Amino acid sequence: MPEVDFVYACEASDVPENGALNVNLDGVEITIFHTPDRFLARSGVCKHNGFKLELCDITGDTVTCPLHGWKYRISTGKGVKPAWTVLETYPVVMRADQLWVQPLAEKQDDEFDTSAFDW
Ligand code: FES
Repeated sequence: MPEVDFVYACEASDVPENGALNVNLDGVEITIFHTPDRFLARSGVCKHNGFKLELCDITGDTVTCPLHGWKYRISTGKGVKPAWTVLETYPVVMRADQLWVQPLAEKQDDEFDTSAFDW
């Protein structure tokens, strides 16, 4: 895996509690979620058709896309509906009160290739 530096994403206070903020880091759209106990960085867009995840509905550990109802677990990035989909996850760290993200997705063995489907 190539070495990729952490990139400044935003101030921690920019991400609302139990909410999300999209950032574009080196051309990669990423959503930072502020859960009750930590910050998590996931794909910035819904895997179905690219709706920004910061605009989706967040309830507990679930983010639901309002366009067609796809759901994901924020904690793992794994799909709930459909279960076979998965959001990319990115390492995120807090330095002082700033969030820094490594804009290279962590490897996920169970990622399903949807490119062959005509949605
Ligand atoms: S774009 Fe998100 S469910 Fe269709």
